[in-house]
Amino acid sequence: MEPRANFSLLHKACAVLVALCTLHISVTLLFYLRDTGNENEHARPWPGNGTLRSISNGTSTSTMTSTAVPTTKALEKCPETSPLLVGPINVDFSQPVNLSEMRQDPRVSEGGRYKPRECVSLQKVALIIPFRHRDEHLKYWLYYLHPVLQRQQLDYGVYVIEQDGEDTFNRAKLLNVGYAEALKEYNYDCFVFSDVDLIPLDDRNTYRCFDQPRHLAVSMDKFGFRLPYNQYFGGVSAMSKEQYLKINGFPNDYWGWGGEDDDIYNRLTFRGMSVSRPDGVIGRCKMIRHSRDKKNEPNPQRFDRIAHTRQTMDSDGINSLTYRVVRTEKDKLFTKITVDIGKP
Ligand code: BGC
Repeated sequence: MEPRANFSLLHKACAVLVALCTLHISVTLLFYLRDTGNENEHARPWPGNGTLRSISNGTSTSTMTSTAVPTTKALEKCPETSPLLVGPINVDFSQPVNLSEMRQDPRVSEGGRYKPRECVSLQKVALIIPFRHRDEHLKYWLYYLHPVLQRQQLDYGVYVIEQDGEDTFNRAKLLNVGYAEALKEYNYDCFVFSDVDLIPLDDRNTYRCFDQPRHLAVSMDKFGFRLPYNQYFGGVSAMSKEQYLKINGFPNDYWGWGGEDDDIYNRLTFRGMSVSRPDGVIGRCKMIRHSRDKKNEPNPQRFDRIAHTRQTMDSDGINSLTYRVVRTEKDKLFTKITVDIGKP
């Protein structure tokens, strides 16, 4: 063969080799880049904005709500701090609220029960509301609280405990009834006791239990967004089952307005506990203005009773509670239990 022909053949072979190498590098690069893209996609399967992107085929083609859960994977515990929180909330009592959309939410079940579908809640919380003749206030409470409790990723139920008849109101006894009745329905481990007219202004104020009894209504508009006094434990508070039992629940003998929350404060300090609170910004809350209820006048005996908590707390509490359930109603957004608790 001519040397010139040999050179031309070698040249062609080299050209083919270079072409093959280029093709190989390109294909490798292509696969590498595609895989890197998918890894980023898998790193954030639960975006904080409440929507989930479908990641099944590596491309983001559809959206679904955050309630959709992969069925094959066991649910993990919810995190300490929910990623769904938004912080400050706009609360306005000047306009009536409409609950119809909320009533259609398939995630809420009859009686005002909810649990997150994306994870297993850290606590099972019963919300107990002492109640009589405050239907308008209850609407606002349900309207603002359900979304907050859901963003807090709680497994919760709402119990409205209505005092039957028109005798003097007894808030603390109704709270005891709520504790007992809620436990008949579900194995709650935390109890949040809330007045019907108090709405939190920040969803970072989690309605759950802590190492110590929790006071949640720390910064009310009615008190100029401050604690009225250091021992104040009124409005909204939370206790685990264990903490509640340690103080024998609440007193049953405070008829009329005032003092029962101070008695509860005394009880928990006498049992060696202290009060846990959110900071004054997160703990802001708004009260619906109203005139004093009939049959809930200030209790003139309250000062004397508060002075004797130590002597009365072991015999007056959940261990001495008596009542009769008159009626139980299941609304989509709450369970209402009407009770005869007697009179002073
Ligand atoms: C009463 C409490 C009440 C507080 C704030 C106290 O004098 O004893 O029951 O929550 O005032 O209004």
